[in-house]
Amino acid sequence: MKTFTIAVIPGDGVGTEVVPQAKRVLEKIAAKHFVTFVFQDFAWGAEHFFKWGRMMPAGALDLLQPCDAILLGAVGHPDIPDHTTLNGLLLPIRRAFDQYANVRPAYLYPGVASPLAKARGGDIDFVVVRENTEGEYAQVGGFLYHHQPDEVAVQTSVFTRRGIERIVKFAFDLAVKRNKKRRVASITKSNAQGYSMVLWDRVFAEVAAQYPSIETESLLVDAAAMNFIRRPESFDVVVGSNLFCDILSDISAIIIGSMGLAASANLDPMRRFPSMFEPVHGSAPDIAGKGIVNPLATILSASMMLDHLEMTEAAKEAERAVAAVLEEGQIRTPDLGGKSSTEEVTDAVLEKLS
Ligand code: NAI
Ligand code: MG
Repeated sequence: MKTFTIAVIPGDGVGTEVVPQAKRVLEKIAAKHFVTFVFQDFAWGAEHFFKWGRMMPAGALDLLQPCDAILLGAVGHPDIPDHTTLNGLLLPIRRAFDQYANVRPAYLYPGVASPLAKARGGDIDFVVVRENTEGEYAQVGGFLYHHQPDEVAVQTSVFTRRGIERIVKFAFDLAVKRNKKRRVASITKSNAQGYSMVLWDRVFAEVAAQYPSIETESLLVDAAAMNFIRRPESFDVVVGSNLFCDILSDISAIIIGSMGLAASANLDPMRRFPSMFEPVHGSAPDIAGKGIVNPLATILSASMMLDHLEMTEAAKEAERAVAAVLEEGQIRTPDLGGKSSTEEVTDAVLEKLS
């Protein structure tokens, strides 16, 4: 029997509510597919910070490294600055394990209402591929005259040819693998960012030339934001920098009906290190502890994890179970207009799996 070791970091707020639900689904899948998941739970995040002054212990990355994958809930607490939580846990993991491809699918499931009046189930079906290790998140910069009246802050983006090339290639390979609209849209702002984004455009064109059967378009990020609303059905794979795709993937998450449905993967496509799977949403302190958070984004992230672990059929089964629950529309959390609890939604998914 095949065994996978999964590092589990529920994190903060609703993260601690959705992760156990995804584990229930994984247990069920394991039983059906004759594999074993050994979960290693790590209680890192805000509580760890309050106790020890850091989000995770010094040797944390060494504990994660031997695992086959990482399942994360969310981090963030109203009493800790967001840059502390992000830089204390999420970004070090993404960087240390060179998880350079952040993959965020946007699919409007039949039965789910989009805030876009025209959109029907299946109309929206694209994937945002976000560069995940450099760009605007490189943390290069500093303060001068810190906390003085004349203080100065400098923050620099870092774009490397290697970094751009590998994420753009990943996007084209994904368009080939999806074999749907066979289209890649590249997002920049090269009219204003005349160095880094011009390099991006140039590398994009070079890589595109190696994929003559894939259609391309280049959009400025502001136009892309508009077109995500105006013509979401036209997109297939969208690739862009760390910051731009972070912002755009909140738009893509909400046009598919709820933040509670948006899944994501942080991949090391070269499989040297464990990849990490997490819902796009944060710790949602406004609804935490009420038992009403939508677990489906995390369950869909677990499905992406199964796919990465080469349990392709199991991944599809989990996704189909979620799709079936959404299509029936009886059991759903309040973010989708329902009255069901987090646990009831998972129960419904488990029932579809049996
Ligand atoms: P958020 O994603 O936590 O919440 C935004 C809104 O969506 C809230 O109204 C929330 O109730 C709702 N929502 C989110 N997930 C939902 C779900 N599964 N079911 C139902 N409703 C859901 O973003 P926000 O409020 O900007 O950030 C809260 C905290 O989370 C902050 O500390 C932030 O830094 C952190 N954060 C962490 C992320 C991560 O760990 N990857 C990502 C985004 C934010
Ligand atoms: Mg975000």
